[in-house]
Amino acid sequence: MKEDEFARLCREAGGKAYIVGGWVRDFLRGAVPKDKDYVVCGLSEETFHELFPSAERVGKSFPVYLVRIDGTKCEVAFARRERKAGNGYRGFDVISSPELTIEEDLYRRDTTMNAVAMELPSKEIIDPYKGREDIFAHIIRPVSEHFREDPVRALRAARQSAELSFDIATETFEAMRACGYELQFEPAERIFNEMVRALRTSRPSVFFRALRRADLLEKVFPELHALIGKTQPVEFHPEGDAFEHTMNIVDKVSAAVSSEIARFSGLVHDIGKGVTPEEMLPHHYGHEIKGGDILEKWNQRMTMPKTWYQSAAFVIREHMRAGRLEKPGKIVELLLGVDRIPIEPKEFKEIIRADHKTLPYYLEYIEEIIPILKSVSGKDAPVGFRGKKIGEWIFSEQIHRYMEWKSKI
Ligand code: CTP
Repeated sequence: MKEDEFARLCREAGGKAYIVGGWVRDFLRGAVPKDKDYVVCGLSEETFHELFPSAERVGKSFPVYLVRIDGTKCEVAFARRERKAGNGYRGFDVISSPELTIEEDLYRRDTTMNAVAMELPSKEIIDPYKGREDIFAHIIRPVSEHFREDPVRALRAARQSAELSFDIATETFEAMRACGYELQFEPAERIFNEMVRALRTSRPSVFFRALRRADLLEKVFPELHALIGKTQPVEFHPEGDAFEHTMNIVDKVSAAVSSEIARFSGLVHDIGKGVTPEEMLPHHYGHEIKGGDILEKWNQRMTMPKTWYQSAAFVIREHMRAGRLEKPGKIVELLLGVDRIPIEPKEFKEIIRADHKTLPYYLEYIEEIIPILKSVSGKDAPVGFRGKKIGEWIFSEQIHRYMEWKSKI
């Protein structure tokens, strides 16, 4: 069904159809819009069923349907109002009725930029809360006091600020701050998911800094908050404390590689510095070991994909020595270790480059060396070698091939 036909059928039955949310926001700011979400007003569910018999109801506590429009399965929600009635994101009373207007539906939404609708088929913009003005001014502002009713909106605002390069208004920071208590009742996946999306942006630091300013960093990512005020030797870290350094690294890694796992690994490489005792500062002896325990606790609190955990744990453990190894055996061990983790050798290299500013040759050429090491096969071991002896032979042959490679550069 074409969108025009969908809108016409709704209208002929006495209702109205709108596109809402992110699609309209992106359309207005001249970006390529993503998925379309629709809202219908003035229709009962019975009428909707009669009009669109193949629509699939997906909303559990309120009417949301999947309808194929212009070849894509799109969400069509009935206009609704929400009233907070308990903790967490499910703690809502939802009122949906054909009498509700689009203005009322937009009022329950998070920010003005996301509370603009496009009426169909006229394409008229419905903008009761001055979303367009804020979109053009690049400002994220809450629509109303309803913002705080879904605390993950605080993370959405921080994430969308990083995504769109929009500023967060002072009143939004206040509303975000007010989400602090409720955030503890949120499923960890919702929080992790917002962080993942922030890591996809070109400057993830914007997300973490916004959370810090809204006093939410300690509640949501205490491991990163602990880095604030952890001083470092000025000669190596003119940027400031371990938090500033971390923000620097996550942005640098994001400029160099697109993998979210690598960006996350860069983000957490120094989390061990968060538990350095005051009397040891500005030094952080052993932080690469302590960081592993902190990551493990983080993982218990907010289960992360195995690939994320493995890569981050490796980067935490190895990031210090990775840039300054001398013994060929140690170098070979490190490179083979890099080969076993889910991130690419190039990604590991970029994390170390961001952290150390310079790179040893064995990391600069890591993509070239690893295949050489892996080309050593136990099948070529001297006749009669078995078990452990084959393993030892492989390793010494790998060192030999590494030395050979090195002599040629
Ligand atoms: N919305 C909201 N509060 C939320 C999530 C969503 O008010 N916690 C509203 C906003 O109006 C949002 C719309 O629902 O624009 C659609 O949600 P979604 O597709 O999740 O977000 P978008 O803003 O469209 O875009 P994205 O999350 O992809 O940036």
